[in-house]
Amino acid sequence: MSDTIGSALAGRDLLKLGDLTGEELHQLLELAAQIKTRLARGECEYPLAHKRIGIIMQKPSLRTRVSFEAACGALGAQPIVLEGKGNAFSRGESVKDTVLTLERYLDALVLRTYEDSFIAEVAEHATIPVINALTDGFHPCQGLADLLTMKEHFGKLEGLTIAYVGDGSNNMAHTYLEAAALMRMNVRIGAPLGYHPDPAVLDAVEKIALNSGARILVTTDPVEAVKDARVVITDTWASMGQEDERERRLVDLESYQVNDELMAQAAPDAIFMHCLPAHRGEEVTDEVIDSDASCVFDEAENRLHAQAALLQSIVPV
Ligand code: CP
Ligand code: NVA
Repeated sequence: MSDTIGSALAGRDLLKLGDLTGEELHQLLELAAQIKTRLARGECEYPLAHKRIGIIMQKPSLRTRVSFEAACGALGAQPIVLEGKGNAFSRGESVKDTVLTLERYLDALVLRTYEDSFIAEVAEHATIPVINALTDGFHPCQGLADLLTMKEHFGKLEGLTIAYVGDGSNNMAHTYLEAAALMRMNVRIGAPLGYHPDPAVLDAVEKIALNSGARILVTTDPVEAVKDARVVITDTWASMGQEDERERRLVDLESYQVNDELMAQAAPDAIFMHCLPAHRGEEVTDEVIDSDASCVFDEAENRLHAQAALLQSIVPV
């Protein structure tokens, strides 16, 4: 299984889940589950020994940074982390020159940044794989971990109904739309007007859904979104880079909070998911995030396993 996905993905970029086919995504999740079992047993295999993985963080990060470094360790690769200002892409050196320099040292580049057009430019110049560690538009690594978590919990993804409530225009909403379309799930986005998904993203996922049989609903009604769903998801109301809009967003999104009342509309066995960091008392209450239905720390753990599978598949050996 790992050989198949490795040869399919080796040398490719992952800028969004839509860069993968449904079959490739299935195989990555399978490999992630195998790696998780292997690590739990304490078995060591170092398929990326002597490989060097650059990790550039232009926005803050806890989970992504630590889980990528840990994944590198688990695979025998060396992580080289550049964060904050004063390093790559911040001294006036051209993107092209920076990338052409970095790839003389590195076997893959993991990048957290703002505009999707910027990571696309980096990927265009790079001959090494470029992995999106979160942009304004997408967060595919989180998507991989979340699919792994849902699959562990429910056994299979096909036909599962997931509801995302809150800022439907952000990177997580877009990522769940892609994930659901590729895996033939039913996805519902509950968000106020002005916070609906990017029409271009919606258009692209609707095309994927036509082939896969996934169903997509975007509604302003949080109850309609959550009704009988097996997975209820939310995310921060003000993403990184939107700090100036925070006060307005708290007002606009107030009635989209995931609380016990909203969770009661979901299926009796519904789980709650959040990529974290959570803003308790804003998009989610303590009762929900601390409840037995909450899988948020399984999601956080699965970042490590999902990214190890991704690196093992994407880094050419
Ligand atoms: N979920 C996530 O990407 O967390 P960090 O911002 O802490 O990396
Ligand atoms: N939408 C959030 C996700 C954080 C992991 C943000 O971009 O800040």
